[in-house]
Amino acid sequence: MKKVIKKPMRLILLSLFLFVILILGILLAVSGVFQKPLYLEAWDKTYSEKFDDPRLRLAAHGLLAASGHNMQPWKVLLDENDPMVFYLYADSSRTSPEVDPYARQLMVSQGTFLEYISVAGQKLGYDVALDLFPGGPYDEQERSESMDSLPVAKITLQNGAAQETPLYEAIFLPDTNRAAYLPEKLTQAQMDELEAVSQDNGISVRILQDSENLEKLGDYAIQAGEIEAGTESVMKESEDIFRANETEKNQYRYGFSVEGQGTTGLMKHILQGLVTLFPSMNRGKAASDRFVSSIRAEVGSTPAYALIVTHDNSRESQVKSGIVYSRMILQAHRMGLVLQPLSQALEEYPRMEAVYRAIHDEYAPDGGTIQMLVRVGKTGQAAPLSMRRDVMELVKKSEMQ
Ligand SMILES: Cc1cc2nc3c(=O)[nH]c(=O)nc-3n(C[C@H](O)[C@H](O)[C@H](O)COP(=O)(O)O)c2cc1C
Repeated sequence: MKKVIKKPMRLILLSLFLFVILILGILLAVSGVFQKPLYLEAWDKTYSEKFDDPRLRLAAHGLLAASGHNMQPWKVLLDENDPMVFYLYADSSRTSPEVDPYARQLMVSQGTFLEYISVAGQKLGYDVALDLFPGGPYDEQERSESMDSLPVAKITLQNGAAQETPLYEAIFLPDTNRAAYLPEKLTQAQMDELEAVSQDNGISVRILQDSENLEKLGDYAIQAGEIEAGTESVMKESEDIFRANETEKNQYRYGFSVEGQGTTGLMKHILQGLVTLFPSMNRGKAASDRFVSSIRAEVGSTPAYALIVTHDNSRESQVKSGIVYSRMILQAHRMGLVLQPLSQALEEYPRMEAVYRAIHDEYAPDGGTIQMLVRVGKTGQAAPLSMRRDVMELVKKSEMQ
């Protein structure tokens, strides 16, 4: 027998439906659903072609590299006298002092930029020569002034033959994937290729995927995540660079956003609308709890870890680790693998000291420094692209101007 919905009931259902549509409309409008995502412009493969200067073209590729907290802490100075030379400086205004008090991750992030430039150089027909710290080392007592006045690298280009490289295509893929990874282990050939990305004697890459090491490294990552979640100043630092909606993402174009955890499409806008209207959803205890549960989920779906370990912890070794990390990202992507750093246990703030010591005693017992701890695996979930600034924002004015 056909069920007839009575008139008052129909009215209630219709009102409910209209109410849901209204709420959805408000959330989408607050999220900025109709705004053009300028913060994604740099990912367009033709973006670099907007610039005639090859140095800007290459910097437009460097900009797509991974950076700690997505701070994009890069400045480039174009040599006024030589159109084939430019300099990379660390941007002293883009440090994360709570989570990265010695700016180690910031220096690793210099290297990630340099490697993307080298790979783009091959494809665009330039030999790229890097000279690290050509003006001498930083004065660590005056670190900020040193960053402003001493380049991390002099980059010299030479016209060469354009070479096809599969790594070039991988530049345009999202660098970091925080989704669940499949249980599938890496093959010996994949492990060998990833371990071979460092050709420097002072930097080793180790892939670990046996159950004992997975458990140990996962435990360190969770312990460290819990410490981080309970350290208000560190959480506040991340909170301050969280961009809640399209307006904020277009305005700042660096830092974190809901895409970071893989949220896309309609759900992204609903979430953005909610965190814009109710910012407390993304602060304090709610944010800490979510952070710990995401690390637990990430650790729980990790088939392998990669460690990048340096003999010393010099600024040069930190930059070179970033070069190695970018190479690892590009090689991994070429092999259909994805990556995510889990940096908490490697951070140097006082409350992390015990975990930092423990993981170093175990995995760098000869006094080395673990520069990166990274999940590696395969996943069925694509990661969304994250924000990037306009490359012209990176250009540093020379002192003469
Ligand atoms: C030195 C360094 C440390 C990082 N640490 C973490 C981390 O602990 N957790 C994480 O999820 N991503 C980490 N990342 C990845 C960045 O958050 C990521 O590169 C940035 O948000 C930009 O996103 P994309 O890599 O997807 O383009 C790190 C990246 C670098 C270079």
